[in-house]
Amino acid sequence: MDNNKRPDSMERITTKELADAFIAEQVELVKKQVGDKKVLLALSGGVDSSVVAALLIKAIGKQLVCVHVNHGLMRKGESEQVIEVFQNQLDANLIYIDATDRFLDLLAGVAEPEKKRKIIGGEFIKVFDEEAGKLEGISFLAQGTIYPDILESDGVKAHHNVGGLPEDMQFELVEPVKLLYKDEVRVVGKALGLPSSMVDRQPFPGPGLGVRCLGAITRDRLNALREADAILREEFDNAGLNKTVWQYFIAVPDMKSVGVKDSKRYEGWPAIIRAVNTTDAMSATIEEIPYSILNKITARITAEVEGINRVLYDLTPKPVGTIEWE
Ligand code: XMP
Repeated sequence: MDNNKRPDSMERITTKELADAFIAEQVELVKKQVGDKKVLLALSGGVDSSVVAALLIKAIGKQLVCVHVNHGLMRKGESEQVIEVFQNQLDANLIYIDATDRFLDLLAGVAEPEKKRKIIGGEFIKVFDEEAGKLEGISFLAQGTIYPDILESDGVKAHHNVGGLPEDMQFELVEPVKLLYKDEVRVVGKALGLPSSMVDRQPFPGPGLGVRCLGAITRDRLNALREADAILREEFDNAGLNKTVWQYFIAVPDMKSVGVKDSKRYEGWPAIIRAVNTTDAMSATIEEIPYSILNKITARITAEVEGINRVLYDLTPKPVGTIEWE
């Protein structure tokens, strides 16, 4: 039997009952596969790796070693949430690595988007590999592969979407959600008790804020982007737009314009709002956001975020514009 093929008889997991049954079945299978050995998981905090972590914690507890690499390009509060949920609430065996300086030092002065992506992907593997090398007795590598990854690629998830894990890692794979579609992964995550802010989150590119801090990344502009993005997300949540808009974020270009703040000339970067709807990310339409909400976001970002003096709304559908700016 091809165990990378979803059986025709497999029911779509849409309810808590179906999710609980799936979880019970997978817990048994994982226990059988792993025995008393240790499993390593790169936990990005995205939906798939978070659900796999919660499932494996239920199955094998501290035999799971989660490694969370903070590349310094996470959204505001993301790494903190990973620590809060997995270490504090689920009592996971979690190794947290703040590699911010490593990534930002390597990225300094690099303006070309694909080069930035390569650096982020390559460094992620290096950091994870170094950490894995320090651990003893790891026999398995868990991955948040989901069914679309199998359908769309060679079946191995380019983990964290920032490049594959080292090919010479000789681990047997544990991939408990590999036959599930994204909506099913979310239902399973909820049944496992993960917060909605973790399982219902919008897609986030592996290179993170790195491809939204346009051009050569600097720490001050990255901070401004992170703060402005947090305000956008908060206001979208308040207005219920998080339920209707597929992906929304801020991009901050590497240019300044003149403005006025506190009656003084104030040069700052513009914050560009992007809010799109799509089903497959191949094409995208622009969500109509009420002016009152745009005004509120503009007022908050320009008042609260150091370095930003204008807010723009990107009205370009895909095509012609891609969803990300880089
Ligand atoms: P574009 O910009 O190509 O984006 O219209 C389509 C979708 O893909 C996401 N995206 C990425 N995801 N690594 C990722 O994991 C990347 O390098 C990357 N670039 C774009 C983007 O956020 C959107 O959802």
